[in-house]
Amino acid sequence: MSDSPQANIAVVGLAVMGSNLARNLASREGNTVAVFNRSWSKTETLITEHPEAGLIAAKDYQELADSLTTPRTAIIMVQAGKGTDAVIDELTKVFEPGDIIVDGGNALFTDTIRREKAVRETGINFVGAGISGGEEGALNGPSIMPGGSDESWVTLGPILTSIAAVAEGEPCVTHVGHDGAGHFVKMIHNGIEYADMQLIAEAYDLIRRGTGKTPTEIADIFTEWNKGDLESYLIEITAEVLRQNDAETGKPLVDVILDQAGAKGTGAWTVKSALDLGIPVSGIAEAVFARSLSSKPAQRAAAADLPGPSTAWAVAPEDADAFVEDVRRALYASKIVAYSQGFDEIVAGAEEYGWNIQKGEIAKIWRGGCIIRARFLNRITDAYAENPELVALLTAPFFRDVLVEGQEAWRRVVVAATQSGIPAPAFSSSLAYYDGLRAERLPAALVQGQRDFFGAHTYKRVDKQGTFHTLWSGDRTEIEATDAH
Ligand code: 6PG
Repeated sequence: MSDSPQANIAVVGLAVMGSNLARNLASREGNTVAVFNRSWSKTETLITEHPEAGLIAAKDYQELADSLTTPRTAIIMVQAGKGTDAVIDELTKVFEPGDIIVDGGNALFTDTIRREKAVRETGINFVGAGISGGEEGALNGPSIMPGGSDESWVTLGPILTSIAAVAEGEPCVTHVGHDGAGHFVKMIHNGIEYADMQLIAEAYDLIRRGTGKTPTEIADIFTEWNKGDLESYLIEITAEVLRQNDAETGKPLVDVILDQAGAKGTGAWTVKSALDLGIPVSGIAEAVFARSLSSKPAQRAAAADLPGPSTAWAVAPEDADAFVEDVRRALYASKIVAYSQGFDEIVAGAEEYGWNIQKGEIAKIWRGGCIIRARFLNRITDAYAENPELVALLTAPFFRDVLVEGQEAWRRVVVAATQSGIPAPAFSSSLAYYDGLRAERLPAALVQGQRDFFGAHTYKRVDKQGTFHTLWSGDRTEIEATDAH
């Protein structure tokens, strides 16, 4: 280790994501990267396998600090949770006021708010940064969603810009907002990711079970869809997964994978936060619940003999192409709902936590590098550029047109799923949300009556101002709620 500090950025935690991020940083002009891992063996492997990266390997936290020019800046790339707190504790011991600690893991944004406040008391900047794109993104260009102070962005901005993916000539990174804003937006990204994945899975299931097409034939359909408005990383990789055959059995890999989906928790966080914020996130919630349901083998086995529809359902061969097109339209419409709801949650979170989040900027940085990257994000970028104060994304002219054109097909697909006994929770809940949002009258009026009957919770009227209560246990006259007791 040389005496004089040389590195302008450090990475702590050298599992695949951390190692790839360090290599990406080192490959960019102007960066010299220091690295540290709790177990030296991982550090040694990285510097041995990638001498071209010119990494400065630190054996302990003091060495790491000594290798950094000021303001010392380190990106933590360890499993979210207690491990992150442990690294923060160690870095605050060797860092000084003005230095910058970045948490690049998938931390819960409320943890980030807590950590930022605690670390700020030492004079050190703490930044929660969502980094999306998996191991490949970390190496070649992720989408990056940093929060943190304006002061930290002065130093961190250029460094993150040097490694971010580029879409339409612009880096997929922006200063999302203060304290936990970055991790909050990454959480929403993951919630939308869950919905996207569930919708694609439902489209596959309906086509496979409705038309009898093989996984490879459905892969061809997705490849075709990927040339149009549904172009996206998730559609692209789904076609790859469906093309894959299992070497051992020769069967389609998708048929030998156990149908119980895992989840590290970010989708659930999105739904919990949406509930607290009072924002309907139908497709995201159903995607989370679909994973939970799939992972209940005992209940599924116990329910396996419950009857389905009395009449068998299949799409006539001559109708297969039309059905596939209906599914494509239903997928597109449901995707619009999922993104519209996700952006609603961003707006509500920004209001609740006092963040100045620019929705158009978020759409821009999601155009590349992240898991939900898609042509679709250009449309969202355009929509917010045209009207930054859109009251609901799905009411933007472009999306409105897609919904108008696709809603009949959407209904046919949800009817087919219902009649065939094929579960399509994300498709159907998204359609229910669409119909709820556009309904002239909702049965919420009756719910208000029920609440007033048993709890005297009062109600408003459509024909006059004020708050009212009916004396249900008395003569059932209506009184102004000011008199209600
Ligand atoms: C990303 C991904 C990633 C995600 C993991 C686990 O943006 O690169 O969203 O951060 O957390 O792939 O996802 P699950 O929650 O599905 O386990």
